[in-house]
Amino acid sequence: MPSAGYEIQILENPEALGRRAAELFVHQAGEAVKTKGTFTVALAGGSTPKGLYSLLASKDSSFRTQIPWDKTHFFWGDERHVRPGHIDSNYRMVYEVLLSKAPVPPENVHRIRAENQDAGRVAEDYERSLHDFFQLAEGEMPGFDLVLLGMGADGHTASLFPGTALPLEQGRSVAALWVEKFKAYRISLTPASLNNAAYVTFLVSGSEKAEALRKVLQEDESSEILPARLIHPSDGRLLWLVDRAAASRLEPSG
Ligand code: 6PG
Repeated sequence: MPSAGYEIQILENPEALGRRAAELFVHQAGEAVKTKGTFTVALAGGSTPKGLYSLLASKDSSFRTQIPWDKTHFFWGDERHVRPGHIDSNYRMVYEVLLSKAPVPPENVHRIRAENQDAGRVAEDYERSLHDFFQLAEGEMPGFDLVLLGMGADGHTASLFPGTALPLEQGRSVAALWVEKFKAYRISLTPASLNNAAYVTFLVSGSEKAEALRKVLQEDESSEILPARLIHPSDGRLLWLVDRAAASRLEPSG
């Protein structure tokens, strides 16, 4: 049964996708701060969200002045098992395009401390930081206001990859996962924690994602394990922001 309960918006190109994502980010930040006094967002890694992050921080765009930076807390949906200054670090990418350019208080940056050689300890450390920040009971999942996710051409999301032992047990918010194709560990929020968010927004761009997007959204789940299909917030809202190239293989919704 195809993925149910989502909204999809198809944007002309990556730039339009970034602008739309920025508009939503500003709106969701304002709503969260109005109702709770803070805005918590788990950021996606990879290259697609860079346009969004740059736009949010840009002094040339109207978004920067609309964001309550002092009340916005930045987390990561996943991280590579590398030190923060490594070229592959998702933290480094976000620092370069956003955190080094926007007035974010250092205490509002909650990175995954992936420099520890023991990936399991990295996951435990991050899980504990979420537990403390969100003041969670044992086994309770963090409730991010917004989770941003990308998707690979193989249907992976965050660091949940096909062919790996996916952390599907309830009660775990973070896992260290061995990814054979990289011969490396990744640290990732689990589906249980991703699905506890108020808003989950996928940002998907490029024709190389088109087949995976069609399978995730429109193909029977029994075909193959595509981790992106595991993401459907229990009480939150799921939005796919995709560009025309990524949407090129979708059947028109009847
Ligand atoms: C990562 C991301 C990963 C990413 C997808 C898409 O750590 O790389 O969390 O899940 O979102 O691989 O990456 P692109 O946006 O670069 O295509």
